[in-house]
Amino acid sequence: MVTDSRVALPFDGRRLLRKRDMPAGPDALFQREGPLVLEIGFGDGRFLVELERLHPEWNLLGVEISLASVSRAFRRMHREGIEHVRLYRGHGRMVVRDFLKPDSLRRIYVNFPDPWPRRNQVSYRLLQPAFFRMAANRLAPGGDLLLTTDHAEYFAFARESARASGVMSEALGEPPPETLRTKYALKWQEEDRPIYHVVFTPTDNPPPPERATQSQPMQHALLDGDLSAVRSFSKHVRQFDGGTVIVLEAYRSLTDDGVTFEVVVEEADLRQELLVKAWEKEDGVFVGLQPFGDPMGTRGCREAVHAVTDVLTGYGLTVRQAWI
Ligand SMILES: C[S@@+](CC[C@H](N)C(=O)[O-])C[C@H]1O[C@@H](n2cnc3c(N)ncnc32)[C@H](O)[C@@H]1O
Repeated sequence: MVTDSRVALPFDGRRLLRKRDMPAGPDALFQREGPLVLEIGFGDGRFLVELERLHPEWNLLGVEISLASVSRAFRRMHREGIEHVRLYRGHGRMVVRDFLKPDSLRRIYVNFPDPWPRRNQVSYRLLQPAFFRMAANRLAPGGDLLLTTDHAEYFAFARESARASGVMSEALGEPPPETLRTKYALKWQEEDRPIYHVVFTPTDNPPPPERATQSQPMQHALLDGDLSAVRSFSKHVRQFDGGTVIVLEAYRSLTDDGVTFEVVVEEADLRQELLVKAWEKEDGVFVGLQPFGDPMGTRGCREAVHAVTDVLTGYGLTVRQAWI
């Protein structure tokens, strides 16, 4: 079924950062100077709220990959009147690599990271040796990275990765009380799972990581035909060299003749949820990526436009032109 459009992620331009805001640097983004502390994978955001109350002098940057979580956390920040937290939707690894400067961080928190337990998922794990080297470059002298997890195997993996990085020492210990009050901490404690904690401290300052060449030109397409043909929808998958695109859903727009497609793109170290829109213009049906969710302009975004174009040709529309 084609359903009505959904409400977009709320945005106030101050608490929720976009890619283009990041070059301004932390002092401008927080509108004050202060120790910069990063939480990767903040989930529902309750830990950031606690940190603001415990350390009102900290500038707290949260990065989270799930749009639904960012939306929930954003509403929490509003509700609780939180001032010194900024949220960014994206991949923790990319924030550390592409947006932060050497020696800029006081601390990184990683609370209950997704363990990616299957053998073929290990490369999705955040705490790889290369990540520790980047983190060591981004942490200021005296800075540290705190990991708390319920997952014994991920814990061992992270410690081994830190050792292999050659730039981190570790200290095992009890987690700070506030890390035992996150949503997942409470859930696992209820199930009596053991909780593991380690503090990693840089022993060296390796050279800065290479920034990604992320931006690829965007793909658009112009089709002949009529969007009214799109009356029902079923999932469509497109494989490409380097990833997979899944077109999950289609929503008819409330305000114009467009149809918006919800798309997931999986690439080597990135999973993005995107919106691709098809709408009728005077000269045909135009297909393009929406800025919603601040997508990283990777090849996968272009493939998402291709995939939606494929879907539309399945309804009898024909491609007149596809260009970058
Ligand atoms: C198990 S949950 C823990 C959430 C929260 N820290 C807590 O303790 O309740 C892991 C979170 O990390 C997020 N996440 C997973 N991989 C990520 C990445 N590479 N960058 C940022 N967030 C990520 C997930 O979307 C999820 O919200």
